[in-house]
Amino acid sequence: MASVNTNMKWIEAASYEEMSKMGAAIFKEQLKQVKTSVFGMATGSTPEGLYKELVKAYEAGELSFAEAKSFNLDEYIGITPENKASYHYFMDENLFAHIDMKRENIHVPAGSSEDIEKTATDYDAAIATAGGIDIQLLGIGVNGHIGFNEPGTAFELGTNVVELTQSTREANQIYFDSIDDVPTHAITMGIQTIMNAKKVVLLISGASKQEAYERLHSGEITTDFPASALHNHKDVTVIYTGVK
Ligand code: F6R
Repeated sequence: MASVNTNMKWIEAASYEEMSKMGAAIFKEQLKQVKTSVFGMATGSTPEGLYKELVKAYEAGELSFAEAKSFNLDEYIGITPENKASYHYFMDENLFAHIDMKRENIHVPAGSSEDIEKTATDYDAAIATAGGIDIQLLGIGVNGHIGFNEPGTAFELGTNVVELTQSTREANQIYFDSIDDVPTHAITMGIQTIMNAKKVVLLISGASKQEAYERLHSGEITTDFPASALHNHKDVTVIYTGVK
């Protein structure tokens, strides 16, 4: 498909593994250039391979996260970091438990906070204090969501509390015993928070994302399709595989 109406850099990967390696290479290069880099992290099945690559590189002594910081995109509300379905738990399992990033430099929105609105405002302030996000990693929902910013979300929002759509709850049910256990609300970086990142790396993998891929690729910008806000960002790299 020819590139239309967009500044995004589109890179096709031959496989999920290649997509993960290409994405990880961008992270590694950033870290080699700037040891104190601030990374925006995503959960979900798409970035798992990228995290494996980063762990491999760390274990091989190629890089250190000792001075780096991270901010995750989102977290379910009403769930503690010890809950296996929490995004905090996911990040520990897939990345943080295996690298040398300091605990105090790891940030995942506190979904179990008693004052969730304050947690949201404080999150954006903490990102700003850290100097802003150098690279934000993103996956994309089948409905075009980024973070938990569902269709209809205003592009101007910072970190905020959202109600999850049924399609997102169903897609995420695999991490829970039943649909009833999937939380109804989440805290997420807003689209504006994501747009403030200096660079964005968006991974798209698999046939279930075909429609989302096509819609993003069309170049149309609409709040009905949250990822389309990224067309207004100056430095977005999309690495895709398994879609055409
Ligand atoms: C994850 C996140 C979500 C996912 C999206 C795709 O922190 O914010 O937007 O990136 O739902 O999920 P996967 O990769 O599981 O298809």
